[in-house]
Amino acid sequence: MTLITTIHSYAGGVAKSATARDLSAALVLLGQRVLLIDADHQADLSVSLGVDIDEQYASADDSFGQTIGPAVLGTGPLPAPREVYGIELIPSSITLYNLEKELKADVSMVVGLRYALDDYRAGGQYDHILIDTNPTLGDMATLALLAADRVLLPIPPNRKGLRAGNFIKSRVEKGHYQRLNPGLSVLPPVITQAPNTNLARQYAAEINELFGGTLGLIKQRPGLYPLAMERGIPVPLLDSSDGRAEVMSVAARFLEVVQLSAQPAPGGAKRGA
Ligand SMILES: Nc1ncnc2c1ncn2[C@@H]1O[C@H](COP(=O)(O)OP(=O)(O)OP(=O)(O)O)[C@@H](O)[C@H]1O
Ligand SMILES: [Mg+2]
Repeated sequence: MTLITTIHSYAGGVAKSATARDLSAALVLLGQRVLLIDADHQADLSVSLGVDIDEQYASADDSFGQTIGPAVLGTGPLPAPREVYGIELIPSSITLYNLEKELKADVSMVVGLRYALDDYRAGGQYDHILIDTNPTLGDMATLALLAADRVLLPIPPNRKGLRAGNFIKSRVEKGHYQRLNPGLSVLPPVITQAPNTNLARQYAAEINELFGGTLGLIKQRPGLYPLAMERGIPVPLLDSSDGRAEVMSVAARFLEVVQLSAQPAPGGAKRGA
């Protein structure tokens, strides 16, 4: 079975792209087959894996052709993913910004990514498809949430993080997303960029309570994470000690939770996340 997880928050800079990159790399190290989709025109995820489409291609059309754009618009197939550190990546480009305008002009296209991934879902060549989004509540977020089975929220332990996590949880669970995409559910979040302070510990406890648990906590590591971005290397491959261990632990917990949620509970109801 292929499980599609969208990493999402309307809040900027909360480590969506770092989580997408490092969780993908960790899942590959754990023997999983991973397709990673960069659906953010900022392309931070692609660049932080050493793939800069806008540098590689002179023409905007050629750059756009390497992204999910044409498949969402129905003008072409998904591009062949490129392999980076064992992850299969469909990268992004600044030209993906044009997709936002097209989605505004024709709302029916918000199901375009879901349909484009149908073949991958049916083909079963991946265990996991992860989608990184830009910080928005707009059409690009809807596109990525309608394509997904699960939403993973990176939440820093502070007021901004907690507000965003709380809002998106209730928007997914009480808003229209689950009506349009009934299989969609919110995973226990990852606590990200956590400083070693009492206030951060209080917020971490609140996040834990709100979601009934988390996938783990990633500490604020001001040396390691900028270096991972600079070198284009995921944290679990760059660091061999605590930074790696906490990402691997989140990935192992992620696998536990999604496998639990895929098993039918006694009596036929779903259990877990
Ligand atoms: N655990 C961490 N410790 C220190 N810095 C971190 C950590 N996680 C992420 N960062 C840094 O924080 C910044 C924001 O991270 P990232 O780009 O992953 O966030 P984002 O949510 O994807 O941002 P955007 O909303 O712009 O897409 C980056 O410079 C990243 O290197
Ligand atoms: Mg990002």
